[in-house]
Amino acid sequence: MKDLGTKNLETKRLLLRKFKIEDAPLVYENWCNDPDVAKYVTWQPHKSVEETKELLEEWIKSYESNRTYKWVAELKDTSEIIGSIDVVSKKTLDHGACEIGYCYGKKYWGKGYASECLDAVIKYLFDECDAYVISAKHCSLNPASGKVMQKCGLKYEGTLRGRYVDPDGKRNDILSYSITKEEYKSR
Ligand SMILES: CC(C)(COP(=O)(O)OP(=O)(O)OC[C@H]1O[C@@H](n2cnc3c(N)ncnc32)[C@H](O)[C@@H]1OP(=O)(O)O)[C@@H](O)C(=O)NCCC(=O)NCCS
Repeated sequence: MKDLGTKNLETKRLLLRKFKIEDAPLVYENWCNDPDVAKYVTWQPHKSVEETKELLEEWIKSYESNRTYKWVAELKDTSEIIGSIDVVSKKTLDHGACEIGYCYGKKYWGKGYASECLDAVIKYLFDECDAYVISAKHCSLNPASGKVMQKCGLKYEGTLRGRYVDPDGKRNDILSYSITKEEYKSR
């Protein structure tokens, strides 16, 4: 893997760029304060914009490493920020393995933005960073996320049985998807 970090990426409708501290109020309002957005992710909804600001400070510091892949998605037309996409762990990068996570504000769902961002990140990680495999996981109760993975060419590779536990203690499966460099090149 050739670690090039969080470079600006452009799609038809979006600019993927590094977070800035001035983004905090809209990151909070547009997705981080929303329990529906946080339902199937690993973080809790933020209680205040200060919480968002503290997190952004940490993330901005993390850009000092070229092993940080963490983008905010901005609509080119209006400059609104709509969500984020990142490589969730640095641990597996040595082996060229990138696990992706993403979340977008509710008012932007169903417009193809998540797929547009994931496509761009996949292209960057394979073409420029020489990744070997790109993966993502979703809870079985969140099929829209699985659909995004499928639309971007990831294949179902297995089920982690009962690994998602909701706040009431009820278990559900997690589905894992991935695409290898060979599969990407032969598309
Ligand atoms: C899941 C999420 C990323 C999808 O974002 P999005 O921008 O709406 O995704 P897209 O519009 O690119 O694609 C969604 C696809 O799922 C489909 N879909 C929506 N609801 C669905 C459902 N209940 N079952 C199956 N497919 C569904 C859509 O029809 C669309 O497919 P299509 O383009 O073929 O019609 C977004 O809802 C989100 O951020 N949710 C909160 C955070 C989250 O869950 N992150 C993922 C954690 S694994």
